[in-house]
Amino acid sequence: MTTQANAEPTSTVARTHGGSEQPDVRISGVTKRFGDVVAVDEMDLAVERGSFYSFLGPSGCGKTTTLRMIAGFEQPTSGEIYLAGEPVAGIPPYRRNVNTVFQHYALFPHMDVARNVGYGLRQKKTSKADETRRVGEALELVRLGGYERRRTWELSGGQQQRVALARALVNHPTVLLLDEPLGALDLKLRKEMQLELKALQQEVGITFVYVTHDQEEALTMSDVIVVMHHGRIQQQGAPAELYERPVNRFVANFIGVSNPIDGQLAEHDPVTGRAVVTTERGLRLTGLVTDPAAHPTIGQHVIVAVRPERMRVEPVGATEPVEAGWNRIEGRVHQGTYLGEQTEFRVTTDAAGEVVVRRQNASGTATGAGPGPGDAVVISWEDSANLILVA
Ligand SMILES: Nc1ncnc2c1ncn2[C@@H]1O[C@H](COP(=O)(O)OP(=O)(O)O)[C@@H](O)[C@H]1O
Ligand SMILES: [Mg+2]
Repeated sequence: MTTQANAEPTSTVARTHGGSEQPDVRISGVTKRFGDVVAVDEMDLAVERGSFYSFLGPSGCGKTTTLRMIAGFEQPTSGEIYLAGEPVAGIPPYRRNVNTVFQHYALFPHMDVARNVGYGLRQKKTSKADETRRVGEALELVRLGGYERRRTWELSGGQQQRVALARALVNHPTVLLLDEPLGALDLKLRKEMQLELKALQQEVGITFVYVTHDQEEALTMSDVIVVMHHGRIQQQGAPAELYERPVNRFVANFIGVSNPIDGQLAEHDPVTGRAVVTTERGLRLTGLVTDPAAHPTIGQHVIVAVRPERMRVEPVGATEPVEAGWNRIEGRVHQGTYLGEQTEFRVTTDAAGEVVVRRQNASGTATGAGPGPGDAVVISWEDSANLILVA
C-alpha cells in the first residue's frame, strides 16, 4: 500500500508499492550538457513517494531536460538517476515505470477516446477485457466516464488533456511526469484543472513530478517546489517556506513580489541568523538572514526584501507612534490600483525608493478607499517581515 497520510487510494489505478523506503526518484550529482550549454548543473534531489513535486523556473532553466532524463529520453552527461532505488542508466523509456504527459498531448486522431487511452495496454498485449476495464477506470478518474466512443477532435482542449492524462494513468506508473500540461489552456480552465490535478494526485497516490514556469500554479498544486535557474537548484521546499523564507534574490523575485532595499550588514549572529542591516539613507533594519548556508561578512552588501502585503500604508498623522520592533518610512503615493481583493499602492520614498504596498480590501469599501495619488503617507512593517538576502 502507499503510505499516504490522509487518503487511501480509492482506485485500482493507484500503484500498490512494495515495502521499499527508497524515494521514487533520486537524482545524484547529475549534469547534462548539450555542447557548450550546461542545461542541468550538478543536481541533487530526492522525490518522496506519493508527493506532488514541481520544478519551477523561467524558460531555458533546465526543467524539461531534467524530466526527459528521468523518463529516459536523455542520458545524463554525468551523475546517476535512481527510480525506486535502482540506477536506471541505459534503461530505455518504455522499461521505466514512469509515464509522461506533455503540453502538446498528441492524441491519435484516427482513434476514439478508448483506443487512445488503451494504446499502451495493447502494446503490452493486455487482454481485451482488462483493457476495457482499465480504460473505463482511467476515464472515470479524469471525469470522462462514458466518453469511450467519442472522437478526440470533438473534445475541448481541457477534455483532450484529460484523455492524455488517462492514457498515462492507465499504465499504472509509479511516477507521472507532467511537462507544462496546462500551458495550452486558457486561464480559467487552467485554474480548474490545477485543482482537479491536485485532487486526482491525492486520490491515486501516484508521485507527480510537474514542470511549470508559472509560480502561482506551482504554489497551488505542490507539496514541494524546486526553484531552478540556469540549470541549478536555487531552493527547494514547501510553498509557504519558499514564499516566507526565500534564500536569495532570484527566489524572492520569482515567487511573489518583494521590495528590495540595499544595505550593508552591520551585525550578524551566525547561530540564530539574526542580523542588522544599515542603509545609506539611514535605515536600520533588523531581520533574519534567510539562507542558513550563507556565511556573510560584516560590511558586505545585502538586500532586505519585504513582501508588499506585510507593509501598512496610512496617511501621515493617522498612525500611532511606532512601537519597538516596527519600521517606519515616509513617502508620497504616486499610484493606487484597485485589484478587487486588494489595492496596490506605489509609494515614492526617500529612504527606500519606490515601494509597493498591498492592502486587503474589507467588504463594503467599493472603491478600495485609502490614500490617493499625491497623498503623504507612512509605511510601516514589523521586523519579522525583513528577509535578509545575501546572494
Ligand atoms: N536537444 C537539445 N540540444 C541542444 N540544447 C538543448 C537541447 N535541449 C535543451 N537544450 C538547451 O538546454 C537548456 C535547458 O532547456 P530546457 O530543459 O528545455 O529548459 P526549460 O524546460 O526549463 O525551458 C536551454 O538552454 C536549451 O536551449
Ligand atoms: Mg520546457
